[in-house]
Amino acid sequence: MTRPVGVALLGAGTVGTGVLRILERHRERIAARAGGPLEVRRILVRSLDRHRPEVPASARLTTDSQAALDDPGVDLVVEVMGGEEPAQSLIRAALERGKHVVTANKSVLARAGGELLERYPQRLYFEASVAGGIPIIKPLQECLIANRLERVLGIVNGTTNYVLTRMDRAGLTFEQALAEAQAAGYAEADPTYDVDGLDAAHKLVILAMLAFEAPFGLDDVHVEGIGRVHPTDLAYAREFGYTVKLLAVARRHDAVELRVHPALVPRDHPLASVEGVTNAVFVEGDAVGPLMFYGAGAGSLPTASSVVADMVEAARRIRATGQEPNGRIFRDDRPPIRPPSEMVSRFYLRFRVVDRPGVLAEIAGAFGRHRVSIESMIQKGRGSEPVDLVFVTHPAREADLRLALDQIRGLDSVHDLASCMRVERGQEDA
Ligand SMILES: NC(=O)c1ccc[n+]([C@@H]2O[C@H](COP(=O)([O-])OP(=O)(O)OC[C@H]3O[C@@H](n4cnc5c(N)ncnc54)[C@H](OP(=O)(O)O)[C@@H]3O)[C@@H](O)[C@H]2O)c1
Repeated sequence: MTRPVGVALLGAGTVGTGVLRILERHRERIAARAGGPLEVRRILVRSLDRHRPEVPASARLTTDSQAALDDPGVDLVVEVMGGEEPAQSLIRAALERGKHVVTANKSVLARAGGELLERYPQRLYFEASVAGGIPIIKPLQECLIANRLERVLGIVNGTTNYVLTRMDRAGLTFEQALAEAQAAGYAEADPTYDVDGLDAAHKLVILAMLAFEAPFGLDDVHVEGIGRVHPTDLAYAREFGYTVKLLAVARRHDAVELRVHPALVPRDHPLASVEGVTNAVFVEGDAVGPLMFYGAGAGSLPTASSVVADMVEAARRIRATGQEPNGRIFRDDRPPIRPPSEMVSRFYLRFRVVDRPGVLAEIAGAFGRHRVSIESMIQKGRGSEPVDLVFVTHPAREADLRLALDQIRGLDSVHDLASCMRVERGQEDA
């Protein structure tokens, strides 16, 4: 009989338990596709006391990470414990020992992925690290290899997409929608990591490394969260024909732009229909055209679906010849990063102004002096004070927009700038 591929599973929480369930549920099919059985030999956890009905008879539970790595029968390490450390050290140790590693850990990949993928391009698998159950890593790494990719747009954080969907659909405030997400189990008690855009930034780094074949880091990403999005802005966005999404955007021309921020998306764009906790990644290739990958971005079985697929791929390679395939992920030349001040976008702007003749001309003048031209405008609330004056601009350099805004804020008739968001449209703006 073919020798089983020995597995050490680091973590048996939400994802790890899902992995064990799928391995049991599809044992024969998986063995057939992997060229022989997968045998989970060690499972690393923090506590041995908890009842864990999914643990198979072949596996030994342990709190000793070294014992899991030292087991000579372990060929494949599956890291689903999460967090920075000790996960990163364990992944490194396993790779250094020649083992194959599957991980769902976006933190480790966003911080150390550049180096790890340079050194171990053929033994590190991470389909579950971005958008949970959606296959996007392998498509970027392999299926789209014949394309030059100019732009990747992702809705890669379920919590913020749920909050924005509820604000849009039910007119809730940010605080109300977040409380609802927490009650439904879609948001953490401390939601900062999600609502401030950091989770999406980690995933964007991973997507960009594959799409543009170069190492990037979190410092390369411009990040804004959704905490300042107001239901009023969702209502104006609708009038202009848009909805608001927290987008992770990777774009390149001569330089690469990496940014996470709330953005107005046209209602007829495929990403506008991605609602609730669902995730999606929209990719444009020069050969294939636009593609959208859509589905469950988290959850035990969806995420485990990606992890197990990686395990099968790893098992095949382990069995193949013992020799790693060639092929690098990164090119030799890393493109420069464009600073936010040089980024060019359309902008949505909501001012609160005094309702008197000439205000519009004053604001339009300041825009004009700094080469910001206006595409459309809405004025609401005549008579009441202050009134909203809302603009969508044509593409403008952010540094120019900032200068115009400084001047506009100084006008007597302008109460404040209540909102400023980017507008992300089709390829014509890219
Ligand atoms: N949950 C999702 O939907 C999802 C989606 C995509 C990606 N991911 C990623 O998948 C990974 C796992 O997430 P999860 O939701 O499954 O986490 P989780 O439910 O908190 O489970 C973590 C598991 O790892 C074990 N563990 C954690 N730290 C440990 C340590 N220092 N030593 C030994 N064992 C340790 C825990 O042991 P105990 O059981 O003893 O506590 C637990 O079994 C994370 O990187 C996460 O970002 C998760």
